[in-house]
Amino acid sequence: MYRTHNCGELNETNINQIVTLCGWIQRNRDLGGMTFIDLRDRYGITQLAFNMDINKELCLKARSLHREFVVMVKGKVIERSSKNTKISTGNVEVDVSEITILNKSKTPPFTIEDNTDGGDELRMKYRYLDLRRNIVKNNILLRHKLNIATRNYLNQEGFLEIETPFLIKSTPEGARDFVVPSRMNKGEFYALPQSPQTFKQLLMISGFDKYFQIVRCFRDEDLRADRQPEFTQIDCEMSFVTEEEIINTFEKLTIHLFKEIKNIELGVFPRLSYADAMKYYGSDKPDIRFEMKFVELNDVAKGHGFKVFDDAELVVGICTKGASEYSRKQLDALTDFVKRPQVGASGLVYVKFNIDGSIKSSVDKFFNEAQLIKWCEKFNASKGDLMLILAGPKEKTQTALSALRLEMGKQLGLINNSVYAPLWVIDFPLLEWAEDTQRFYAKHHPFTSPKPEDVELLEKDPAAVRANAYDLVINGVEIGGGSIRIFDRELQSKMFSVLGFSVEEAKKQFGFLMEAFEYGAPPHGGIAFGFDRLCAVFGGSDSIRDYIAFPKNNSGRDVMVDAPSSISQEQLKELYISLNKD
Ligand code: AMO
Repeated sequence: MYRTHNCGELNETNINQIVTLCGWIQRNRDLGGMTFIDLRDRYGITQLAFNMDINKELCLKARSLHREFVVMVKGKVIERSSKNTKISTGNVEVDVSEITILNKSKTPPFTIEDNTDGGDELRMKYRYLDLRRNIVKNNILLRHKLNIATRNYLNQEGFLEIETPFLIKSTPEGARDFVVPSRMNKGEFYALPQSPQTFKQLLMISGFDKYFQIVRCFRDEDLRADRQPEFTQIDCEMSFVTEEEIINTFEKLTIHLFKEIKNIELGVFPRLSYADAMKYYGSDKPDIRFEMKFVELNDVAKGHGFKVFDDAELVVGICTKGASEYSRKQLDALTDFVKRPQVGASGLVYVKFNIDGSIKSSVDKFFNEAQLIKWCEKFNASKGDLMLILAGPKEKTQTALSALRLEMGKQLGLINNSVYAPLWVIDFPLLEWAEDTQRFYAKHHPFTSPKPEDVELLEKDPAAVRANAYDLVINGVEIGGGSIRIFDRELQSKMFSVLGFSVEEAKKQFGFLMEAFEYGAPPHGGIAFGFDRLCAVFGGSDSIRDYIAFPKNNSGRDVMVDAPSSISQEQLKELYISLNKD
């Protein structure tokens, strides 16, 4: 038997017991007469004690053991003279009588500590060592708990977990597909699913009225902190449901997870229409942990000879409480911030409502005090506030102000990481116009149903059609999205045609689904949560990588196994692929 206990469980109740432990050497301290080793495993750390006077040979052997050696020890649990209140095993230690080296270890390339000296790339290359660190290990434990709690909850609610294939035909979710060449079908390719969307809809047609799957999805898109090329969804679909019932079911799931995992009680989630989310926060995933809502100023700002405002589609600002004392330098830095290409504004106008009641702005040349007082009233500003204003094309300006709002939230310390502020964003537009390709795209995906009252607008004014689509947002992160689906063949065909598919193209890509709609498709809808993002929000991090055991880096590489990599000529030949040299 390798072990009687693990390294995290011994305490006073075990004193005088003979125990056997296994683990890795975290630290080895030679204090002359005594040697102490911290032995680590998944469960914790136990101190091992060796006494030079009692067993010199064993003590010398202990001293020779290096960090990360794997050992098995046998000994008696004794009370510790100097206790460590920081760890659960801190009142006891093991007085070792036997030690066996199970395996040696090279000196690890970085320290296995919370504050490691290893850089990002190095830790990714040796991810299996990084996973030994408490911080990373705890993220993986959190992920496991969330996974199990989700499964149990959905199972209790009558959802069936059904696996759908990974080698499929492309499903358009807006990103590029990863493709897999087929050896048995010359010149043909599978696509890895961007989500199980069409399959879960087919399962509804099959009659499995409540489906879920915690499932890997693959998208070949540009990576960011909240995006990985392969990521996991909690994917769900239900039949004979309204939008309201789906929202309620998944609001309850979220409330359950917060209660179970973090012992936090969340109240009813507010709902905000997409139009209002854009109007007040400039984002369809607003962080509502703090207020600072947008105030539109077209009526008071235009027509006073200031060209930037006069020419703008939208003049809009935020009021930052208590920031009137921002210095010239700080305001210049904010101007630089909004002008960065990622933010994209052309400049920043400020109005200071000073503590002494005076008003100072960067547009004093164009606006007198009485006019600026009107602005302050619109902003509901008090003495000591700073108003920051942007102007330009509507959507671009809203997006830029959204970035500035978040930046000011950070600078003013308004973003509290122990607060969780979920909300539903509803009534998304069905379609999105793309200037570059001069066509409409589905805002969510092509299977999303228009609101019944807007169907007649599909041909007349497609941009005005609202969808039965909804997103769950927590602390400014889009956690999940879903919709009520089209289940009528005619409407689906119309949708494909609005999206610019010819009848043949639609048939070629989605013939199987359209045909299925002809065999008694029930009304249905669903949602998918980004599971990695959910873990990161629970763990209080912006980066989903920390919650994935073996993630890819920002260039989509697994630097540990060195993937992607080239394949042999024989493999290429078998797959009928010839590589173009350039
Ligand atoms: P959607 O495309 O909105 O919807 O995806 C659902 C959720 O998945 C997460 N997500 C990602 N997480 C990490 N890395 C990525 N690259 C990534 N892309 C998306 C987000 C997102 O909200 N089939 C529909 C769902 C439905 O309609 O039921 C779908 O996939 O948190």
